[in-house]
Amino acid sequence: MYPKIKTSLPGPIARKIIQKDEKYMSPSYTRDYPFVMDHGKGCFVTDVDGNVFLDFAAGIAVCATGHSHPNVVKAIRDQAGRFLHMSGTDFYYDIQVRLAEELSKALPLKGRKRVFFTNSGAEAIEAAMKLARYHTMRHQFIAFFNAFHGRTLGALSLTGSKIIQKKGFYPLVPGVVHVPYAYCYRCPYNLKYDSCCLYCLKYIEDMLFLKTVDPDDVAAIFVEPIQGEGGYVVPPVEFMVGLRRICDRYGILLVCDEVQSGMGRTGRMFAVEHFGVEPDIVCLAKGIASGMPLGAIIASAEVMTWQYGSHASTFGGNPVSCAAALATVDLLNKKLMKNAEKMGAYIKKRLTSFIDKYQCVGDVRGIGLMIGVEIIKNKKSMEMAPDIRNRIINQCFKNGLLILGCGPNTIRIAPPLIVNKKEADIAIDILEKVIARERR
Ligand SMILES: Cc1ncc(COP(=O)(O)O)c(C=O)c1O
Repeated sequence: MYPKIKTSLPGPIARKIIQKDEKYMSPSYTRDYPFVMDHGKGCFVTDVDGNVFLDFAAGIAVCATGHSHPNVVKAIRDQAGRFLHMSGTDFYYDIQVRLAEELSKALPLKGRKRVFFTNSGAEAIEAAMKLARYHTMRHQFIAFFNAFHGRTLGALSLTGSKIIQKKGFYPLVPGVVHVPYAYCYRCPYNLKYDSCCLYCLKYIEDMLFLKTVDPDDVAAIFVEPIQGEGGYVVPPVEFMVGLRRICDRYGILLVCDEVQSGMGRTGRMFAVEHFGVEPDIVCLAKGIASGMPLGAIIASAEVMTWQYGSHASTFGGNPVSCAAALATVDLLNKKLMKNAEKMGAYIKKRLTSFIDKYQCVGDVRGIGLMIGVEIIKNKKSMEMAPDIRNRIINQCFKNGLLILGCGPNTIRIAPPLIVNKKEADIAIDILEKVIARERR
């Protein structure tokens, strides 16, 4: 299969749907270009006018097993025929417990683990915030600039990505302080890795804890092991190791937000595994159920100590979503994680060659199939170029490739984990053709 554009974009049917959308839908959504989905199969999607696109956005890193994987669809159909809902808050059902067992086994954390199910990533973050406060009986949180943890009020308080996401919504949940992340390509302290001696870590202990925040008040540090929405930023291993050390020193919980980086996308079930660090709580959503709404937190049994009635959700852990998640985990374990590692390395290598070839490609970074391409004005100034980035994304769309941005000026490459070499080559060829036109 190949991308095939046969109408102007948007086509006539898409235009009608978009017109209606503009009339009835909330104006808060962020549509970068006018793609109107009709159906999808694997890595390809077809719009309502019959145009075929290669999907390297995967519904923002959600469709881990591709669009409508037959195993996932079968699991959903089978479960839907048995029962659609039975509120895991009040009753028991096997499929939910089986998924909790699978997720517990997958997380390399010593001792017994427990799982709490939610409907979304933001809800998983809310649950982790509540659990961290409850378990430690402390109120303060530390989060990072450029972090994205969601848009509900608690999660939004931790988010430090774009001011538009917060503007007009204050006051947020009190007790959150943001500190710089290890974004070494653009060090917030203007230092160079590794002569910086990880000053971003030192700042937490030598400035924050001595001047404004008593570490004994801190319940948790929330961190994305690889920042997603903030720009697909991979920190050095010592950064995550150092955060663990700080947490251990002051009795703080380390909460890893793996909503985007988890579920096999980086070639391991959880991105934090690449850093050899054990988190106290892991938050999941997005890829967990291949597109069905589901989120979860996993914590060690010693941390998940909240009592009967203290937290619950009517829909969290919906049986149909759990069935989709079990089928997803099975596919990840059997071959997709390995494929993510292999294809990720291949795609990253090809994209990295763009740095020498094209003035506007500043940095290529990522692990597995979570790859960011940072677009700049030129190598000398390294000035961010959001306008060029946006133009590239739009031109890719016109050439049959769906990609999304992240951060102010980065392109995110997040295809389904089933992507093969031929599809990868088609996508990178389109991207290269478009980037080459920006050579000025
Ligand atoms: C790292 C991270 N955390 C949390 C969220 C929020 O997830 P949701 O949109 O499902 O609420 C997202 C969504 O993009 C995310 O990328």
